[in-house]
Amino acid sequence: MPSQKPEISRLPLSHPDYRYGKAKNPYSAKLGEFPGIAYSDHETETHAGKWRERFDVPGAKTKRLHVEIGCNTGHVTRAWAEKNPKDLYVGIDWKFKIIYRGAEKVSEKGLKNLLFFRGNVERIRFMFGEGEIDALYLYFPDPWPKKAQWKNRFLKESTLREAARVVKKDGLFHVKTDHDGYFEWMRAAIAKTTDVWEIERETLDLHEGNEKAKELTIPDVTLFEKLFIKDGIKIKSVWLKRK
Ligand SMILES: C[S@@+](CC[C@H](N)C(=O)[O-])C[C@H]1O[C@@H](n2cnc3c(N)ncnc32)[C@H](O)[C@@H]1O
Repeated sequence: MPSQKPEISRLPLSHPDYRYGKAKNPYSAKLGEFPGIAYSDHETETHAGKWRERFDVPGAKTKRLHVEIGCNTGHVTRAWAEKNPKDLYVGIDWKFKIIYRGAEKVSEKGLKNLLFFRGNVERIRFMFGEGEIDALYLYFPDPWPKKAQWKNRFLKESTLREAARVVKKDGLFHVKTDHDGYFEWMRAAIAKTTDVWEIERETLDLHEGNEKAKELTIPDVTLFEKLFIKDGIKIKSVWLKRK
């Protein structure tokens, strides 16, 4: 699915001094309605290594931190946060409006253990400190199916190494995709990073044998996953453990 591209400055995204361009999106300013819930652009990089302190939750410093990449409106992260009030969650997406909608719901519900980042997850190594994350999730990233688009795929050797920097030892990186070609591409990238990641489990058909898969609900499945299951598409998945 093609996604809206954020405006960028002239430095490459991977550069430490990169700066987000001035956003024209009206929801950029509106995100300011949710201080302490929604962080946007440079703000997503100002508390790296200290995110636990940003949660208004007693004992936050010792709690587990889960981060979902490409969270959309945060339907999965929000359901997890409600179910597991003792854990802390961050949902990241680059679309302003959906992060605004997510933050609106968190504010309405008074959820204290969930933050949203509006930013480009290619900057993950600047967003978090070393080993800050207990578990990272990437569900149904844009597959960029054409060969000329493969360079846009998020999961590659470099991002696996950056993810390894921010996930703690024995931490988890869970990935799901509907796309066979992207899954093969992921496996090839994972094979190059066995010094930092160990495959705990992988499957080419996550819901195999589950006759009630169509009845699964969020957060056990994502919104996209529900559509794929309905269309009879097999879900490929891998669980990586940080070495
Ligand atoms: C195909 S959707 C999947 C959404 C959700 N995980 C699900 O399974 O229902 C991919 C999501 O990733 C987000 N996304 C794509 N590239 C991104 C990037 N570089 N940084 C942050 N979010 C990104 C998109 O805006 C979109 O919400």
